[in-house]
Amino acid sequence: IPVDPFDLVIFGATGDLARRKILPGLFHRFAVGQMPEHARILGAARSDLDRATFRDLVGESLLEFVPQASGQKGLVNRFLEKLDYVRVDVTGTKGWPELAELMRPDVIRAFYLSVSPTLFGAIADNLNEHGIATPDSRIVVEKPFGHDLASAKALNADLLNGFAEHQIYRIDHYLGKETVQNLMALRFANSLWEPLWNSTHVDHVQITVAESLGVEGRGGYYDRSGAMRDMVQNHLMQLLCLTAMEPPSRLHPNAVRDEKVKVIEALEPVEPADIVRGQYRGKGAADGYRDHAGDPDSRTESFVAMKVNIGNWRWAGTPFYLRTGKKLRARASEIVVMFRDPPHMMFPKTEGLRGNALIIRLQPDEGITLRTTIKEPGPGGLRLAEVTLDMTFADALGPHAEAQDAYERLIMDVIRGDQTLFMRGDEVEAAWAWADPIIANWEDARQHPAPYDAGSSGPEDALMLMHRDGRRWREIE
Ligand code: BG6
Repeated sequence: IPVDPFDLVIFGATGDLARRKILPGLFHRFAVGQMPEHARILGAARSDLDRATFRDLVGESLLEFVPQASGQKGLVNRFLEKLDYVRVDVTGTKGWPELAELMRPDVIRAFYLSVSPTLFGAIADNLNEHGIATPDSRIVVEKPFGHDLASAKALNADLLNGFAEHQIYRIDHYLGKETVQNLMALRFANSLWEPLWNSTHVDHVQITVAESLGVEGRGGYYDRSGAMRDMVQNHLMQLLCLTAMEPPSRLHPNAVRDEKVKVIEALEPVEPADIVRGQYRGKGAADGYRDHAGDPDSRTESFVAMKVNIGNWRWAGTPFYLRTGKKLRARASEIVVMFRDPPHMMFPKTEGLRGNALIIRLQPDEGITLRTTIKEPGPGGLRLAEVTLDMTFADALGPHAEAQDAYERLIMDVIRGDQTLFMRGDEVEAAWAWADPIIANWEDARQHPAPYDAGSSGPEDALMLMHRDGRRWREIE
């Protein structure tokens, strides 16, 4: 379904994110016919470019980042015709009147701030001062949304100075992932799970986001951030919220986000003994975290595992174990809901049985697996065995499962005016309020993270975190 005509202004249009994700995403939507005829994309940046050079640059990015674009020259050219460019000095006065001049009345206005967060305030002010923002305009911002609670509050204040909360779209690209949204469908469009989705029946939950890549090329940013700020406070927190939240009364942005905030507010403080921080070391020379971080003595973590308790009626007594890291043995993100053992076992004990688990695979090979215990087939008495009911979305849904990048969906939601998959200001602040003391604790302790080998499953201590509770992580594979 095409969306309404729009003027989308991308600040930082020549930057990495715009080239890799935003513009290719928009091209995809154009290619499938979702972009209306009168849509326009205006690049705004400091570089001294004209419209033609900007179009050429975008054309090159599409060839680089959209595999099929080289065979779609005509389509690419028609997409490029939608592009315009204006040179804007975001902290100064130059370029703003020209931008104001270019904007059309009576179409949706959206401003995508693909720039450093230090510029959010200046851009928001200028958009208002030059009469470019209207009461219905949308403003889109990227992570990192703050470095801690104080900076997140300051950023919220900068944006709220010129825009109302219903106009602000804070992106967490995990919310745009198909399987992450599927988590809501799985939980709330089926009656099967809800009666079991609580501490009476669930022993624990594991949330793993494992990456095989390291921090190559991003060492500068990453070393000031670390896995806690880069992944846990935002992406893993979103996965935790969607897994743990109460059923919203309706699919309305605030109804969903209210429930997520309640989960974050119910999180109990995490004891230092319940957290493991790790840092990968390379196998060869120049391959370890510190070789890329630019600081040979860096104490930044590239891995975090922790046990989190949610202090509410539904989840008291059911820990959530979170784990994320770079340079692990595989790229694999999944949520494992481990059910409790049957209260009474009449069968002889069988070694190696792991019990019922629902495994929601986020990436790659998106799908759902249900681990079940059955009778081992064949003669020789009644022995138990484990089988899995597997559903890979690509197999089950065929061509309809066509991958849509998270950014494509999110940008179109901005145009539609649907904030469900975007973080609200209080949600981001609540997540920082939870993360801040954890980070402050280890900064005070000045401890070095535990080393782990590149290509492994993380530090030994992370395994111990579960072993000491009589539990174990699912293999990263
Ligand atoms: C980003 C982080 O937000 O998410 C990166 O800054 C991380 O460090 C990336 O690699 C992971 O995203 P995805 O979509 O590849 O799982």
